[in-house]
Amino acid sequence: QIPIVRTVADLRAQVRAWKAKGERVALVPTMGALHDGHLSLVALARTKTDRVVASVFVNPTQFGPNEDFDAYPRGEAQDAEALASAQCDLMYAPTVAEMYPEGFATTVNVTGVSEPLDGAARPGHFAGVATVVTKLLLQSGADVAVFGEKDYQQLQVIKRVVRDLDIPVEIIGAPTSRLESGLARSSRNAYLSDAEREVGERLNLALADAVRRLQAGETVERVEATGRAALERAGFQRIDYFEVRNADDLSHPGPGPLAVPGRVLAAAVIGRTRLIDNMAV
Ligand code: PAJ
Repeated sequence: QIPIVRTVADLRAQVRAWKAKGERVALVPTMGALHDGHLSLVALARTKTDRVVASVFVNPTQFGPNEDFDAYPRGEAQDAEALASAQCDLMYAPTVAEMYPEGFATTVNVTGVSEPLDGAARPGHFAGVATVVTKLLLQSGADVAVFGEKDYQQLQVIKRVVRDLDIPVEIIGAPTSRLESGLARSSRNAYLSDAEREVGERLNLALADAVRRLQAGETVERVEATGRAALERAGFQRIDYFEVRNADDLSHPGPGPLAVPGRVLAAAVIGRTRLIDNMAV
């Protein structure tokens, strides 16, 4: 059994008690529907600090009007059980009213790194993420917060916010946890039929192929075109992007062979499910 708190006041009281004993605290923000990818973040957090808090909050402000906020999988009892077995110390599960009380009027807007890729495909998404993560970091007062590289652009956006707003926390990126097929673990995989899952599994293969081609010196332009064609052939209905970017700020590396640390990022829709994934070059 894991203790659950639902208010900022109760969260702060617990964290204050730990810090009074000299213990350091990590936060792992999630939207629940927890899988082994989330739990790998908790495991990594446990190696960094004495205490680990996981937040479970399906944040309405990061979903677009035609996205899956209502359908997003929710199961608090299972989440609590999973966190307990991962030896997480506390689950923070605020209500929407606790997070966004009457009159709430502030948004954290990040330019630059939040604009391309998912920023272009999902208008307002990263403002919702940056706002809620800023709140979670300030509410918890965590010394460390862990985010998955699965959502690579999100990780870069959060690093930008923390630097720009002088939030006293260390942001740590955790490697993407994958199924045996290579498919990145995701709460949204629950939406996939068996046939759709087979299509979805092609996403990581196309990214791995792009990494090999870039390492062999193929141009960025060619690699992107090949990747998009592979996803079309695989049966994805819509490809939001398949792009090679600079790893740190996600700017364009230019069309020739890659000369800097890069990242290949892709988002594509199969059925009613939007999958994203990325790999380092
Ligand atoms: P959610 O999608 O629940 O993911 C919570 C955290 O788990 C994120 O840092 C995400 O990158 C990480 N994660 C998800 N799947 C992963 C995998 N297969 N391997 C490694 N890490 C993985 O991302 C969010 O929630 C929200 O945007 C949030 C940051 C909580 C703000 O609302």
